[in-house]
Amino acid sequence: MNLRTPLCERLGIEHPIFGFSHSAEVTVALAESGGYPVFGAAREAPERIAGELAAIRGRLGKRPFGVDLMYPKLAGDEPDRAAARAKLPPEHIAFVERLKRKYAVPAPTKPNFFADRVRNRAFFRAQTEAVLASEVDAVVTAVGLPREVIAEAKARGKTTFAMVGSVRHVAAALEAGIDVLVAQGYDAGGHTGPVGTFTLVPEVLDAVQQAGAEVPVLAAGGVGSGRQIAAALAMGAQGVWLGTAWLATREYGTPPVLLRKLLAARSEDTVISRAHSGKPCRVLRSRWSDEWSAPGAPEPLPMPYQHALTGELLAAIEEHQVEPLVYEAAGQSVAWFNELTTVRAVVARLLAETELALARLRAA
Ligand SMILES: Cc1cc2nc3c(=O)[nH]c(=O)nc-3n(C[C@H](O)[C@H](O)[C@H](O)COP(=O)(O)O)c2cc1C
Repeated sequence: MNLRTPLCERLGIEHPIFGFSHSAEVTVALAESGGYPVFGAAREAPERIAGELAAIRGRLGKRPFGVDLMYPKLAGDEPDRAAARAKLPPEHIAFVERLKRKYAVPAPTKPNFFADRVRNRAFFRAQTEAVLASEVDAVVTAVGLPREVIAEAKARGKTTFAMVGSVRHVAAALEAGIDVLVAQGYDAGGHTGPVGTFTLVPEVLDAVQQAGAEVPVLAAGGVGSGRQIAAALAMGAQGVWLGTAWLATREYGTPPVLLRKLLAARSEDTVISRAHSGKPCRVLRSRWSDEWSAPGAPEPLPMPYQHALTGELLAAIEEHQVEPLVYEAAGQSVAWFNELTTVRAVVARLLAETELALARLRAA
């Protein structure tokens, strides 16, 4: 059965399966499986981006791929991590010190984005310049809609995607000339708004239609089975966009403790927490999210201060795989990923399940 939508034709891909990942290996494998990969560069140092993207391009040849960057509003524009740390409230520093002692977390020994950097406007600009100068086919903007970035990307012939978590953002995205909208619901891993995918997708589709625009919409958030893909296509989406799915693949190289937690997790085992970045983010529930929401815990700080506060500790937790505190952003779709597999096998399962669901509908 052919599941190709007009967007697949336009982008030159076989299947309407789009995937976000921080992993270059996943990016390459998803392209080779006929989907559309988007490499998440928000956690990349600007000076590394050109090399990373050139390496992916080299492996993919002409197959298309995109890059995702985040443009969140910041509560301060500090020049570096030391300046941001100078503004941290003492009770927050004391709380993090208590966590470090309570869980006996050793110091980090390796460089890590969270421990070394602070997000500021210059950082976003440098990341953007590296992406725009690259041979990537598409630029995806998330947690913000910078019109100038979208205009620059379009001027360089790149396809532009915007992540939208509310129907309120559709008009601005269309005015900015966005080519593809990704309606990302509350079910999603990562930074999310409060509206569930099953509501948001038709809301966004209606808003696009009412604006008289012909912009395709993808459904993101909570998708882990072909039944949901059939439902997304039935709603009018031209494809689905998955993030959590790839964390359980060999290509991602998930560290062992995190992998164990992901494979065991059900849909209720994720929570929305501000303790990750300062903005609401769906993550795997762990002692990290529990500690920050316990009575007496301080409110997480706004971006970029939460990372300035916790970056070193998060880096150490990841490096040393400190079991109770290990977590990652993950969506409610985590329910469907219960064994270590490969990107190709995930795509094959999703396609087979979608075909079955559509055949069942036709027979009914
Ligand atoms: C580990 C992880 C990190 C993410 N980071 C980003 C990001 O930097 N930018 C972005 O647009 N989306 C990010 N997302 C959200 C994905 O793009 C996608 O919308 C989401 O994963 C879809 O829901 P699902 O997790 O249920 O598949 C992230 C998701 C995960 C799981």
